[in-house]
Amino acid sequence: MKLLIATHNKGKKKEFLDMLSTLFSDIEVQEYPRSFEVIEDALTFRGNAMKKAREATKAFDCVTIVDDSGLEVEALNNAPGIYSARFAGEDATDDDNNKKLIESLKNEKNRKARYVAEVVLSVPVSQVDSLNLSERSKKNALEEDSILFFCARGTCDGEIIDEPKGEGGFGYDPYFYIRGWDKTLAEVSTQKKATISHRAEALVCIKKMLTD
Ligand code: IMP
Repeated sequence: MKLLIATHNKGKKKEFLDMLSTLFSDIEVQEYPRSFEVIEDALTFRGNAMKKAREATKAFDCVTIVDDSGLEVEALNNAPGIYSARFAGEDATDDDNNKKLIESLKNEKNRKARYVAEVVLSVPVSQVDSLNLSERSKKNALEEDSILFFCARGTCDGEIIDEPKGEGGFGYDPYFYIRGWDKTLAEVSTQKKATISHRAEALVCIKKMLTD
């Protein structure tokens, strides 16, 4: 199956590739040009994920997987949320965002946080036959503009710690602590992260929708 992974975020792309290869066989990843950008101006994860999926599917006429994801921190009224990638400003790096996060939580005792991912797998109606979907499975999708959209949300609960730990993952992972593991998500392998991650949870739902 030809598949476009519509993200320029290297961390996300690596996770998608790892997880997709265990969920689907015969994936041929399509080139997603650096110059292709979608303006993320919706007010929800779902709205942004749908927008990215719609624009990429139309432009490349290809089965596409995309997510919109972010960090919600309870003590910050669920900020940074949909603004997670640009919490510290338009061109913020992961380091800038993490610094702002830790400063915002100074003297705050409530460290509860969660990652949220809205994943969308979109299929041009003209290519639906190549996926051998059942009639029941097709009913799990929204149809719009001759594209089928399979959408699912996943979450991952954790806590924010003050000092970074680990070299793996990306984004907020060095500060995102999983109490049950006594580790941050940057201290575990991509495979272990995929056993609890928001992105993995949503992808498993999508796989169920496709095989219904
Ligand atoms: P998006 O590309 O607009 O969906 O922004 C996602 C942002 O949310 C990333 O740039 C990270 O800051 C954050 N994020 C989402 N998922 C993760 C994750 O699994 N680990 C760390 N940060 C994440």
